[in-house]
Amino acid sequence: MILITGASGNVGREVLKQALAVGLKIRATFQSPDIAAKAPAGLEGVIMDYAKPETIRPALLGVEKIFLVGPPARELPALEAHLIKEVRAAGRQHIVKLSALGGRESMFPSGHRDSEENIEASGLPYTFLRPNGFMQNLVNYDAGTIRSQNAFYGCQGNGAVSVVDIRDIAAVAVIVLAATGHEGKSYALTGGEALTNEQVAEKISRVAGRKISYVDLPPAEFKKAILSTGTPEWSADALLDLQRLYREGKASLLTDDVERLTGRKPITFDQFAHDYAFAFQAEAKAAS
Ligand SMILES: NC(=O)c1ccc[n+]([C@@H]2O[C@H](COP(=O)([O-])OP(=O)(O)OC[C@H]3O[C@@H](n4cnc5c(N)ncnc54)[C@H](OP(=O)(O)O)[C@@H]3O)[C@@H](O)[C@H]2O)c1
Repeated sequence: MILITGASGNVGREVLKQALAVGLKIRATFQSPDIAAKAPAGLEGVIMDYAKPETIRPALLGVEKIFLVGPPARELPALEAHLIKEVRAAGRQHIVKLSALGGRESMFPSGHRDSEENIEASGLPYTFLRPNGFMQNLVNYDAGTIRSQNAFYGCQGNGAVSVVDIRDIAAVAVIVLAATGHEGKSYALTGGEALTNEQVAEKISRVAGRKISYVDLPPAEFKKAILSTGTPEWSADALLDLQRLYREGKASLLTDDVERLTGRKPITFDQFAHDYAFAFQAEAKAAS
């Protein structure tokens, strides 16, 4: 039995889908009973909150491997520490942690590195999956203004990023969860090309059938825009810090880990844009 945490999230949902498709025996954790009730058939759903250890213990029973997903938030290391502690006390199962590329270079990846160090110090078997920025961020965070204003915003300048498709991250996760031989390994998951946001805008324009622009803002103005959506201050600062990393060209490395593990090339941005074109349709068109 494999435990998939964060099963309602962007990555967790896709891992769940692909794990079920290859016939893995899955228990999935949800915070919300309503969302758990809508989970796909063929899995065992449990309610679990990292902040409530009494909900973690039953979720671990009979489990051999754990896919660990924490929220992209300041609390991530502390929340994941609760699960790590319970795993040490219970089954000492193999943790496959969804981490992030960037190490100590920026706030979000640094929180992941804290958690990785905690796992390393625990003596538990582990594998770290360190993806670069997700292609699907364009859908989850930018599609609204792409639809309504034909534009998306940031402050990463001309920095190129080797963005990766969540479907590739999930494919790697399922391979690592299903097999042995990945203990103690870390995989850096990137797409096959590093793209600037100008290039991203061109590619989205092509599938949307109209001109989509990337608007580069001064960091202070971008922060103001992020805060106006209700994003907590720490998360806004972390996003800005990531944009700085991108601007400095420090997120453009290309690795072959996706290809080595899956046996095929990573999904291209053009393929991603084609598959998600529906999300970028102009509002009038989307409504008709
Ligand atoms: N976006 C990127 O470009 C990027 C790049 C590299 C790495 N990452 C990392 O990838 C990870 C996953 O990203 P994502 O987009 O899939 O995140 P997400 O959609 O926000 O998913 C987070 C998951 O964690 C669950 N969760 C939150 N708090 C919890 C708690 N206290 N107890 C139990 N579960 C809890 C959420 O459940 P609810 O739905 O109930 O809240 C959700 O299922 C993050 O750690 C992020 O830092 C992201």
